[in-house]
Formats: sequence, structure tokens, C-alpha cells
Amino acid sequence: MKTTMNTQPTQQQLKQAVAEKALTMIEQGMILGVGTGSTVNCLIDLLPKVNLKGAVASSKVTEDKLKALGIEVMDLNQTGELDLYIDGADEVNENLQLIKGGGGALTREKIVAAASKQFICMVDESKWVKQLGVGFPLPIEVLPQARSYVARELVKMGGEPVYREGFVTDYGNLILDVYDLDITDPVAIESRVNNIVGVVCNGIFAKQKADILLLANADGVKMLK
Ligand code: 5RP
Repeated sequence: MKTTMNTQPTQQQLKQAVAEKALTMIEQGMILGVGTGSTVNCLIDLLPKVNLKGAVASSKVTEDKLKALGIEVMDLNQTGELDLYIDGADEVNENLQLIKGGGGALTREKIVAAASKQFICMVDESKWVKQLGVGFPLPIEVLPQARSYVARELVKMGGEPVYREGFVTDYGNLILDVYDLDITDPVAIESRVNNIVGVVCNGIFAKQKADILLLANADGVKMLK
């Protein structure tokens, strides 16, 4: 991205740039899986430029935004496998493994990503990390009744869970944001956390990582595979 007078682009400009790049990877007539968050919102605003057959939304918020633009929102149970899912992330490492769920939509996001042939993740450079979970807590969706039990199990694993007060997921569940969990092995921790009874889903996307990363910085948008 070129800027004038050596000023650095703002984070919002980087989000816009990466969304514009992602738009070029969408084909006419597709049913597109659409993620959630401020980066995805930049993409959603551009979607009327593409003649989509429809979209599958990863959250109620995204669903409402798509509908407001006149884009048909489809039920994943009716569409079959999607060609493409595009979403943002809270953190990404060099293996294109992610932490997601800052917006609390992790479960629905993981479902739509799993049901898609390709997952393109769009981030600005602030999301690029050496190790997942050091700078951002891991969001975990839990059944309401299991909240305290799951929290105790996470403490045994070395984490510090914080209940996201006042937040309820699209599925009526709760979120624990877990600080200080050692996520040196993302695939192992993703499975281990999912195996705690009462956990619906956790925000590590390691088995289910991005296929393509679009990474925006002051020099432009890089594509990593
Ligand atoms: C929502 C998510 C988002 O993708 C993640 O929080 C990134 O959001 P943003 O683009 O606003 O930084 O996982 O559950």
C-alpha cells in the first residue's frame, strides 16, 4: 500500500486493503462462506460488486449485514460443501494456525470453515505472532451449566480463564477467555480443550487452519500458503 509523506497506513486502511485483495479471489455465482468481525465487515461492504449466488453467514451479525445489502443468506444444511470461506482472525502463526473468537462466533465460524473446500484468512500485520495465545486469550464456548467445571479444568492446564460477562453466543452458550495457556502445540491443545466435558468449541484453528493467508502491511498485501 502506497501512502503519502511516509505516513504509515492505519489499521483500518490495512483491513480495507486486505478485504479488497480477498474480493478478487471470489468467483461470480459462488455461494460464499462469510466470517465475522471488523475485517470481514470491510469485505461485506464490497460484496455487492460480485454476483454471488448466495452466502452462508458465520454469525447473526454477519447474517444481518449481508441481508441489509440484499445478499441471499443460505442455510448450510441446504448448500452442500462451499467452495470458499473467508474470515479474519485474532492471531495467526507461520503455520497459518489461528486463534479466533474475539467476536464470540468461533463455533459457527469453525463449522462453516469445515464445510468449505478452501479457507482464506485476512489479517493486518498486528495479528501475526510467533506463538498463539501469548498476546491474546483463547476464547472457549461452553455450555452454561459447565462454566465453572470447565474453568477449573483449564486452571489445571495452567490457564487463567475469565468469564466474558454479559455475552451469550448465537447458540445460547457462554465464553471463557483463557489467558496464559501454553499453546506451543496448537493441534494437541485444540483437541485437549475440546475433550473437556461441556466445551462446545475452542478458538484454536489448528487442525482446521487457513489454506491461504492474506497479510496486509505498509508494503501491501502478501499471500502465504
Ligand atoms: C470473531 C472472530 C474474528 O475473525 C476475529 O475476532 C477478528 O476480528 P477483527 O477482524 O475485528 O479483528 O474470530 O469471532
